[in-house]
Amino acid sequence: MRPRRSVRVAVIGAGAAGLVAARELRREGHSPVVFERADAVGGVWVYDDAVAGGSEQRPSSSCLYASLRTNLPRESMGFLDFPFHAAGDGDARRFPGHEEVRRYLEDFARRFDLLGLVRLQTEVVRVTREAAGASESWRVSYHTSERREAEEEEVFDAMAVCNGHYGEPRFADIPGMDAWPGKQVHSNNYRVPEPFRQQVVVVIGCGPSGTDIARDMAGVAKEVHLANRSAPASTCERLPLPGNANLWLHSMVDRAEEDGTVVFQDGSRVKADVIMHCTGYKYSFPFLGEDSTISVDDNRVGPLYKHVFPPQLAPRLSFIGLPVKVIPFPLFELQSSWVAGVLSGRIELPSEEEMTRDVTAFYSALSSRGCPRRYTHNMRNHEFEHEDWLASQCRRERIAEWRRGMFAAATGKNALGRMGSYRDEWDAGDGDQLDLLLARANREFAQYFLPAAPPP
Ligand SMILES: Cc1cc2nc3c(=O)[nH]c(=O)nc-3n(C[C@H](O)[C@H](O)[C@H](O)COP(=O)(O)OP(=O)(O)OC[C@H]3O[C@@H](n4cnc5c(N)ncnc54)[C@H](O)[C@@H]3O)c2cc1C
Ligand SMILES: *[C@@H]1O[C@H](CO)[C@@H](O)[C@H](O)[C@H]1NC(C)=O
Repeated sequence: MRPRRSVRVAVIGAGAAGLVAARELRREGHSPVVFERADAVGGVWVYDDAVAGGSEQRPSSSCLYASLRTNLPRESMGFLDFPFHAAGDGDARRFPGHEEVRRYLEDFARRFDLLGLVRLQTEVVRVTREAAGASESWRVSYHTSERREAEEEEVFDAMAVCNGHYGEPRFADIPGMDAWPGKQVHSNNYRVPEPFRQQVVVVIGCGPSGTDIARDMAGVAKEVHLANRSAPASTCERLPLPGNANLWLHSMVDRAEEDGTVVFQDGSRVKADVIMHCTGYKYSFPFLGEDSTISVDDNRVGPLYKHVFPPQLAPRLSFIGLPVKVIPFPLFELQSSWVAGVLSGRIELPSEEEMTRDVTAFYSALSSRGCPRRYTHNMRNHEFEHEDWLASQCRRERIAEWRRGMFAAATGKNALGRMGSYRDEWDAGDGDQLDLLLARANREFAQYFLPAAPPP
């Protein structure tokens, strides 16, 4: 066996991805340093009343709304060997509120003694590659929030980018928008429904945020109109919600007009006060600069081998957490384990040429299916195939069947009509199939709750 390498790794971000990266890197014998610009670990799960860009002194990483609950059942969502269980006086629901996730991530960081590796309130502003002979290193420039003007630098052997992808909002492109007089908001700046009291709001985008936010506002706002890009053009119906909720479902917005009207594809017209864009985010790596060989093109971050390594710079540069439509935490864990193992030499990567060929073949397969670039990191329908591949690279167990079953059941349920109520229906018991999955989950979890063996 070859001797293991141990390297110093700069990890950018202390969200779920950065925390588990730190854990896996250290487990493998490396020395990670985690840079986090916020004043706490947890990334998006650190709820902040302030809206993004609101305060220069206290940059908000969060884009959560106050009422947000997880869209996956907690059992399936947690890291592989650290169950996301209800503890103490927390929120015991199966789909808990966001504070419970933050508590879980903090517990994870404490349990694996990661907090000492994290430098809070420290923002990475630039990373540059330095080649000295055969060895390559990364110069990381950063500043702390107390001394923004004083840039400091440090050199590392490798970089793991875990900066999340909710920094740069994406807006829907709507004809006539320039002359439309109403107010436009992105979901990253939505916190509570009160500012929309008695307003007419058009919500664009039917992902988890769009449907959640529309439901959150319905009953407070005068009318909420939800535009669904995938719905048939003729769609226009009022949803049967309790109370005075006034929520309509439409096909996509066709155009906006100067008098404040929003016209949908079905021809229906609404005079709206607000357009709420729940249209997602763009990947963005402002600290990488021009020379990184990595580019973001129509939201494809590339070229990347298996969404993690740029062939030309592997394994000294890696990206953890890019895929979407996955169970995030377990995927981040497997990616981190892979990166750590490759850096130490325990796991081998193909040659640069082979990785490049693999990436090229992947991109042409996407384009021959007519799949736009922006879906490159969308793993819908093949996420477990991908995770199995990662697990086999890392020589770890594949993700358990019960976890897959729960994920599939939850994503299947998160559909129209129910508009959010699926969470409580599931809590109230959802038949034998779920009980079976839960029983399996609890059996697996039991091993992590055994009392520690007494010292000999
Ligand atoms: C509204 C919403 C709901 C969600 N619901 C669920 C759910 O129910 N279940 C689930 O499993 N997942 C959910 N997710 C997915 C969520 O993205 C993941 O759970 C996960 O938290 C992402 O972690 P991350 O570490 O990749 O990114 P983030 O949590 O965004 O963390 C990135 C960190 O990097 C820091 N950072 C960025 N740039 C720099 C820099 N230059 N220098 C220093 N630090 C930097 C940021 O401050 C941040 O703390 C949801 C996401 C959103 C937006
Ligand atoms: C949007 O439309 C698609 C296609 O009809 C449908 O499958 C999906 O459930 C709709 N989403 C919502 C929230 O209505």
